[in-house]
Amino acid sequence: MSHLVQNYLDRVRLEYQAVDDGELADYIPELAQVDPAGFGLALSSADGYVYQSGDAAREFTIQSISKPFTYALALDRSGAAAVDARIGVEPSGEAFNQISVDPDTKRPKNPMINAGAIAAVSLVPADSADERFALIQDYYSAFAGRRLELDHDVYASEKATGNRNRAIAYMLASFGVLDDDPDQVLDVYYRQCSLKVTAVDLARMAATLARSGVNPLTGRRVTDATVVRRTLSVMVTCGMYDGAGDWVSEVGLPAKSGVGGGVLAVLPGQLGIGTYSPLLDPKGNSVRSMMLCRRLSEELGLHFLTVSRDSRATMRASYEPCPGVRVFETHGDLLFPGAEQVVRTIERACSDLDVAILDVSRIDDIDSAARRIFAGMGAELRAQGKLSYLVDPDGIVAPDDAAIRAEYEAIRFRTVEDAVEAATAGLRSR
Ligand code: DON
Repeated sequence: MSHLVQNYLDRVRLEYQAVDDGELADYIPELAQVDPAGFGLALSSADGYVYQSGDAAREFTIQSISKPFTYALALDRSGAAAVDARIGVEPSGEAFNQISVDPDTKRPKNPMINAGAIAAVSLVPADSADERFALIQDYYSAFAGRRLELDHDVYASEKATGNRNRAIAYMLASFGVLDDDPDQVLDVYYRQCSLKVTAVDLARMAATLARSGVNPLTGRRVTDATVVRRTLSVMVTCGMYDGAGDWVSEVGLPAKSGVGGGVLAVLPGQLGIGTYSPLLDPKGNSVRSMMLCRRLSEELGLHFLTVSRDSRATMRASYEPCPGVRVFETHGDLLFPGAEQVVRTIERACSDLDVAILDVSRIDDIDSAARRIFAGMGAELRAQGKLSYLVDPDGIVAPDDAAIRAEYEAIRFRTVEDAVEAATAGLRSR
């Protein structure tokens, strides 16, 4: 059946096959040598199944798509406070290679423009440029689920012609943003930009971000959810440079482009997309990659602000198995908004009941905010002279706080029938 999706992706890609707008990046001479017709698309589901279409296995250099990953590595290794002290998170609305810092803070405005990306390299702690690059190479490879290798020609070409980046790095050094030798930092930056990837690699890297840092192919946790959230946030606001606003409103996928022709786009929790087409618009974004992302987002409903299931759905049913006893059945994912509604529903029903039984046995996922709210609700009901019980066979509402754990265990049951039995015994003994 997966051919249905495959056929759809092939059809959409073919529709743009003939588009030849845009130019090859030629400010890095080696990039002007690639075949302008290359065009690939890959989509990885959250469980790691990858669809590929066209030149999805063709290698090209990652270029600026490296930036979110080095930023994530810097966050991992140096911590958010140290990174924030050197790199902002504000959209710049500027070109990727602007020689600029924030006029007040004297920090690069964000890690997606070259200034911020070069600063991020220097925030990966290492004793030498080689060691730093090895950390970066290993980290990207873990996201991709295979070893990524250097394109030596592109590296040499970029290094030989990188005056703009040299200007940026020396400016950063003069503002105290770089502690290390600017040329050493740049050398690692050129190497990270010259790592070779395919559209399939990009889809897998994106899927690892979509899965909050767990690579769905290898099952390995590459980074944690906090780092991913921060990284995706700057991709949303700054990933497509001065085109970021249009991108967010029309495509609505955290994304990053590179002058090698790639685009990586993430639908958090759901999927990752990788595209390749080396003809670029004047902002340095791949023309056909952007067309593909736009089209897929529109037709497949991938905008990250599309609400798929609203939180009213948390309360599934409510019924009275015997007088004075009311069971509240919940389902789906229980996060703060759902928990808040459950509490209000129970509160409204409170005057007509003696016993509230909250059934969370159909809840898929719960977060600590919802758990705290439920712990507070039990105490509140008892204070009002009501009895309250939980049907929680898997212990998903178990409070983290050991002090209130015993209270929770005392009112927890495996089935609604057990809880109703306890409720009637409780009422009788009053
Ligand atoms: O620093 C540079 O100019 C390149 N290595 C990367 C630029 C890039 O990919 C910009 N993205 N669209």
